[in-house]
Amino acid sequence: MMTSSGPAVPANIDEEYYQISEEILSSFPKFRPPVDLFRFKEAALTLVPLIRKGQRLTNEQVEEVHALCLSGDLFVSRSDHSIYSEHMVKQLDLVLQDSNLKEPELADICIRALIMRYEAFAEQPVRPVFDPLYKDIMVYTEILWQDRHRIKLFMRRLLREYSLGKHAFNSLIVGTWLLLRVMEGGELRRRDLDRAALAFFLQDIGMAKIPAFILNKPGSLKAEEFDKVVLHPTLSYKIMQKLDLAFDELAQASLEHHERLDGTGYPQKIKASQISRIGRIAAIADSFGAMIAKRPHAEAKDLSQAAQELAADQKRYDGQLTGYLAAALLTENVG
Ligand SMILES: [Fe+2]
Repeated sequence: MMTSSGPAVPANIDEEYYQISEEILSSFPKFRPPVDLFRFKEAALTLVPLIRKGQRLTNEQVEEVHALCLSGDLFVSRSDHSIYSEHMVKQLDLVLQDSNLKEPELADICIRALIMRYEAFAEQPVRPVFDPLYKDIMVYTEILWQDRHRIKLFMRRLLREYSLGKHAFNSLIVGTWLLLRVMEGGELRRRDLDRAALAFFLQDIGMAKIPAFILNKPGSLKAEEFDKVVLHPTLSYKIMQKLDLAFDELAQASLEHHERLDGTGYPQKIKASQISRIGRIAAIADSFGAMIAKRPHAEAKDLSQAAQELAADQKRYDGQLTGYLAAALLTENVG
């Protein structure tokens, strides 16, 4: 891929190098780029080294680099991928500008950014830490909005180890997948997708307030320990309320993700039709996301097996939703 003003770049170069857009270049430290830079020599149809990473640039070099970038002649090697992607993890909106990223790279960078944002917010649930998390969730929904099939990229990358951040990622992806599946053929508004995604991602944030020794304890919990865990849906909601975030999806996902159709859930022990659609999706996303991850007290289950177990539990989980998930995983529609 190339910019419209750029020269014809041979395909083999495209495989080993990224062509840098202006947005990406301007996000680097201007006088000390963190990656090696290459320029395209049209006459020889090849790339030649221009600037070594960490090198201090003169004003003239900064101008030269900028001009090469504008004409589509500036490249970075894929061997610098880890530095380049680390950079994008911290400024995720850049992935939307970079048509050179392959889809799996885009997904991997997005996952790392989201988990990093979640962990920071779990540690410090305040507005300045929330804002970049919100921004990155909007990048995630934009990625899906451009092409809904990209949800498969993320479904193939569900995480098989448990941590609060990884679990939040799994809940986000499975929740979004279910929502897109339910709304297939219907009219899903962008705003609804944005809100639901944020709600699925943060529904368990109250767990950050539960002592770690309870969360990491192998085996079953004592009654007084369980009493603490039961508080976390309400804590999730309260954390968001403190930030003046109070919309239906957020309340439903956080307060209802442990409610069950037969009334055996918590905290309110509501039943069947009392549980919202977002709440039902949130419940499956949370349970499924946990079942497929290795936790202190349980091995990771196979994706298809976990989905089938949920589908067999129609007393507690919405059968239509679990049916979608089980069918998709059985036919590997998502993998
Ligand atoms: Fe939870």
